Order: sequence, then C-alpha cells, then structure tokens
Amino acid sequence: MNLYQNADTTILEDAVNMLQLKKNILLKGPTGSGKTKLAETLQLKLNRPMNSINCSVDLDAESLLGFKTIEVIDGQSQISFVEGPVIQAMKEGHLLYIDEINMAKPETLPILNGVLDFRRTITNPFTGEVVKAHDDFAVIAAINIGYVGTLPMNEALKNRFVVIDMEYISGDILKQVIQEQTLLQDDLLIDQLIQFNKDLITMAEQGQVSEEASSIRALLDLCDLTSIMPVERAIKRAIIDKLEDEREQQAIINAMELTF
Ligand SMILES: Nc1ncnc2c1ncn2[C@@H]1O[C@H](COP(=O)(O)OP(=O)(O)OP(=O)(O)O)[C@@H](O)[C@H]1O
Ligand SMILES: [Mg+2]
Repeated sequence: MNLYQNADTTILEDAVNMLQLKKNILLKGPTGSGKTKLAETLQLKLNRPMNSINCSVDLDAESLLGFKTIEVIDGQSQISFVEGPVIQAMKEGHLLYIDEINMAKPETLPILNGVLDFRRTITNPFTGEVVKAHDDFAVIAAINIGYVGTLPMNEALKNRFVVIDMEYISGDILKQVIQEQTLLQDDLLIDQLIQFNKDLITMAEQGQVSEEASSIRALLDLCDLTSIMPVERAIKRAIIDKLEDEREQQAIINAMELTF
C-alpha cells in the first residue's frame, strides 16, 4: 500500500504519538489532502484494525452503536444485538475513523461525548450495557474545510480532539506521490502538471475555481489520464467537465493554454 507522505514529517510522527497518548485526533483539511490516506497509514503503523463511520444527516444512534435483531437458534427465536462500529472498536481496541464528522446532525454525536473524553465509556441505550474502551481504542476524525455547505463542528465535540491541520503537499514529495500512485512516468510532463496544479490552487484560493479542481485527487486522475491521452483532453475529462460553472471552466482552459 502507498503511505501518506509529507515533507513535514511531524504530521505522521505526531499523529502516531498522540494516538498512543490516547488523544482523539481531528484531521482538518480540504478535499483530497490525504486525510483518509493518513488514517490508513496510521492504522498500518499502529498495526490495529480500524472501524469506520461515514457521517451524513442520516447518521443515527443505530449506525454508531448497533441494532437489535431476531435470531433463530435451535428453532427458538431470540433477540440479539448486532454491535455497530463504535461498540466494536471500543471492545476490541480498534481505531475508529469518523469521516466528515461535521456532516452529522448536531444531536447525533453528543451520544459519544463520554467515549471521547477521559471516561472512555458509554452506556449502550439499546442494551443497557456499560462499555468501557479497551486500552488500544483510539479515534481519528476528519473534517473537510473550505467545502461549500459544510457546517462548523459542535464546540463540545471539537473540544475533545487535538488537531492536525492538513495542507496539500507540493514539490518533490508531490512528484514522488505521483510516480508511486499513477501510471504517468514522464518526468517533464509530471513537472508541467504539478505547475498547472499549483496555478489551480492559486485560482481556488482566489475563489476563481472550486477547490475540487485543484485537489490532489484530481491531479492524480489527471496524471493517469495523461499517460494514455493528450494532456488537453485529460484536463477536460479529469477537471473541466466536472465543473458546473462556465466561467470556472473558461478560467481553467485559459490556464491550460498558458502552460501547455
Ligand atoms: N500526502 C499524501 N501522501 C500520499 N498520498 C496522498 C497524499 N495526499 C493525497 N494523496 C492521495 O490523493 C488522493 C486523495 O487523498 P484522500 O482520499 O486521503 O483525501 P481526503 O483528504 O480524505 O479527501 P476527502 O475530504 O475528499 O475525503 C488519494 O489517492 C491519496 O492516495
Ligand atoms: Mg477522505
């Protein structure tokens, strides 16, 4: 597996150390900045399984904690409880990855407050069981910033985390990631695409194009496509045609014509 990379090695080192201190860590950064990649890398470094939760407005207590079901054992039906990701991770000492934590409804996550502070405990409302977290249990959450339509995170929840601010990688490290993760190996073309991506980041910062156009995920797609088709068409398919706004599309065409 490809690992998370950053010229700033404190990101990975601190994340490992903070998890070992049993701190909950919040990865904060724009789309495609490597939050999920970092979580997977931490899982590998700590050699612990990971349970994941993807937050949305539909997220409810059942999807966090589990649900009751009827099981038939030896012809007898009985009610049993299927443990959800939080209960599983707490009992087994897994990592728990909570993605897009700010997308949950404000009333859903406070149920985890006791899990996320010094108590490391929850009383499962469906079974009455008091679950105390295993020593190895630790939480990694991710929040997308700069996304249009994202909600700020509830203060009491945010208070329970230490934060790692993620930025897009650049320069030599970015080149290395492209070489490792895409089919494009042409050195000159990679350099040009990195420069082009840099221009897009500047344009995104100035609000001329949306952030998805400048994300590393879009750049990696672009590099893969460029290995099999002319770069102009690759840019059209990987970036331009994804945008709704004609002015944004035109701004990228202009930048493309300047670079290629
Ligand atoms: N620093 C990095 N090291 C290695 N790979 C990276 C890095 N940054 C981004 N990537 C790659 O870019 C792509 C997007 O990364 P990832 O999915 O982790 O982003 P994300 O921050 O979780 O985005 P989102 O908020 O949209 O979920 C992946 O293919 C990942 O491998
Ligand atoms: Mg992600």
